[in-house]
Amino acid sequence: MPQDIHSRPATARRSTNLSGTIRVPGDKSISHRALMFGGLAAGETRITGLLEGEDVLNTGRAMQAMGARIEKTGAEWIIKGVGNGALLAPEAPLDFGNAGTGSRLTMGLVGVYNFESTFIGDASLSKRPMGRILDPLRQMGVQVKSSEGDRLPVTLHGPETASPIIYRVPMASAQVKSAVLLAGLNAPGITTVIEPVMTRDHTEKMLAGFGAALSVETDRDGVRTISLEGQGRLSGQIIDVPGDPSSTAFPLVAALIVPGSDITIGNVLMNPTRTGLILTLQEMGADIEILERRLAGGEDVADLRVRSSALKGITVPAERAPSMIDEYPVLAVAAAFADGTTVMLGLEELRVKESDRLSAVAEGLKLNGVDCAEGEASLTVRGRPDGKGLGNAGGSQIRTHLDHRIAMSFLVMGLASEHPVAVDDSTMIATSFPEFFDLMTRLGATIEAEDC
Ligand code: S3P
Repeated sequence: MPQDIHSRPATARRSTNLSGTIRVPGDKSISHRALMFGGLAAGETRITGLLEGEDVLNTGRAMQAMGARIEKTGAEWIIKGVGNGALLAPEAPLDFGNAGTGSRLTMGLVGVYNFESTFIGDASLSKRPMGRILDPLRQMGVQVKSSEGDRLPVTLHGPETASPIIYRVPMASAQVKSAVLLAGLNAPGITTVIEPVMTRDHTEKMLAGFGAALSVETDRDGVRTISLEGQGRLSGQIIDVPGDPSSTAFPLVAALIVPGSDITIGNVLMNPTRTGLILTLQEMGADIEILERRLAGGEDVADLRVRSSALKGITVPAERAPSMIDEYPVLAVAAAFADGTTVMLGLEELRVKESDRLSAVAEGLKLNGVDCAEGEASLTVRGRPDGKGLGNAGGSQIRTHLDHRIAMSFLVMGLASEHPVAVDDSTMIATSFPEFFDLMTRLGATIEAEDC
């Protein structure tokens, strides 16, 4: 059943020989930060390659509501920032739609200001835990009004002067780390974040690029201590956003499982905090050639040539989860076509994404004939390399729960399954990968959304 009158079901069918060269849109994490830091920094920031997905556009609107001037000229986004410490009080609630990153990082950024800011979002975002951000903000002196269980809507009011804190991040979360650091930008003195397990480091790298006084020390056990001096000057930058490895994952897995495929994906971000999926797939026997490794704007990027491959099941260690946290749904699809059993461990954070991804994936796999078992924080998938019997001949639709990555993962599954795979909604794919249908069909995939 469709989720509501605005939903748009989609179906993918068995395809062969995906081929061609594509570029996926800009990285979502870097795009959010580019608009936020550009909107905050003094002077002009120019961004090319920005992801123009709904999540990122909502962050842009929030920055505009707090005084940043943002316009697009040709392919370039030009931001005139307010200067660190000079955000304006938003006159209306800031609506972040589906976006955890936009809402949580902005709570850190503006929550410590001595005025009121209100945060709202869609049904998915309103179910997600915000206590992980609100707890450190409370320690910095922020007053919080929120719905039961620290969910959206949330209203924040910062103190006259925020207190810098030393905060040990209790779960592997780049959003929590980032929110505390961004709050620290407007607190006098040194804010310190201790990160026991390294997560994506875009905030640290980009803030340093904008001129923040920030240092990172890593001890022998890999524990990172990030120190930021508050109330410094940030200046506008030129940013070229590389292609999103999390969006890359969909055509990449499609090419691996669809027989006869040979595709190239250009300009993909290869920051080591984001490449866990490539490593895992290579261990499973994937033919992924990493071409033209280069440095662009301080980040590693490369082109990926991907050919269909005979995959085998492996155990994916829990320590790898932070470097591929958004890629498990599509990895589970790859595992459904691998010879043998794949075991994925350390998945507790999947339960609090745009949906409970662990149960959404297990439910979707079962609906389409895959033998799998959902644990508290693990997933076991027994694959069927030829795709025989997979898919749903009766046309039953996967429930996507407003989760773009669930929708895209199962559409990829349909390209190699004997029967079609259908999802109940595809509208939310526009939050992160608006070009998904165009790019996939350009490669030769048989994939269609119903007419609205
Ligand atoms: C993100 C961090 C991750 C990731 C999300 C983007 C970021 O979330 O899942 O898609 O840009 O900082 P967590 O911090 O909750 O792990």
